[in-house]
Amino acid sequence: MSTPHPCAGEVLLGIRHLNKRFGGLQVTNDVTLDLRAGVVTTLVGPNGAGKTTLFNQITGHLVPDSGEIHWMGRPLLGKRPHEIARLGIARTFQDLRLFDHMTVRENVLTVTENRAWLWQPGGRSARDERAARVDAILDRTGLAGKAEARAIDLAYAERKFLSIARVMATGARIWLLDEPASGLDRGSYGHFLELLRSEVRNGVTVCIIEHNLDIVVSISDRIAFLDQGRLLADGDPQTVLNDPHLAAIYFGEQTS
Ligand SMILES: Nc1ncnc2c1ncn2[C@@H]1O[C@H](COP(=O)(O)OP(=O)(O)O)[C@@H](O)[C@H]1O
Ligand SMILES: [Mg+2]
Repeated sequence: MSTPHPCAGEVLLGIRHLNKRFGGLQVTNDVTLDLRAGVVTTLVGPNGAGKTTLFNQITGHLVPDSGEIHWMGRPLLGKRPHEIARLGIARTFQDLRLFDHMTVRENVLTVTENRAWLWQPGGRSARDERAARVDAILDRTGLAGKAEARAIDLAYAERKFLSIARVMATGARIWLLDEPASGLDRGSYGHFLELLRSEVRNGVTVCIIEHNLDIVVSISDRIAFLDQGRLLADGDPQTVLNDPHLAAIYFGEQTS
């Protein structure tokens, strides 16, 4: 989507020989992958390939059986999800995990309050600045008119945008987005792509799990293809998408 070479930028997340098993099922199988600054990496693969499980291990929601994950050269494993979030690694969840009974504004404010509490002296000017940031984020995600609505009363697409707004509010350096565009109508995903592009231009690094190949083609600098826990391919979009072996795996699974 932008023009960096797939190998551009420093390695933000370095994943080495990662393994995770659930009972008899190897859901992450010797995965080695670098996520580099400025590169939009899309994780593609059939349902159950282990994409979300990979995110869960990066963000501390699951502990790998073996392997390593480094964040800007420092070991990440063993840290708790909130510690990892604070380092600048934000994510969305497939089930969104919003605060359903809070307003849209409150959903976003809770994220910025956490930062303010940690890093800012507080007081009126800090509060005003925070409120202005939240307003700007609501504006850019198309939620300004819904600021006082409860999350539970939003339409599906609005809920997805609220989950993105919450990621934006973290100010994180890398975003891990788990199927953020699934179920969106064309207009909404056009808006979503626009938003994502502008955030990437502003320096955010994105790793996104996505099924819609139109979206995959239009945003990816690089595609990592997972199947049954294994990284089967990792390269430029055209090469990966034109590989007949991968297409057979992908579409075979999708239509079964
Ligand atoms: N907590 C868990 N316990 C047991 N099995 C799980 C758990 N989470 C995921 N799995 C299984 O691991 C496999 C990979 O799941 P997942 O990472 O969610 O796949 P994807 O996101 O690629 O669709 C699936 O077979 C899923 O059923
Ligand atoms: Mg998943």
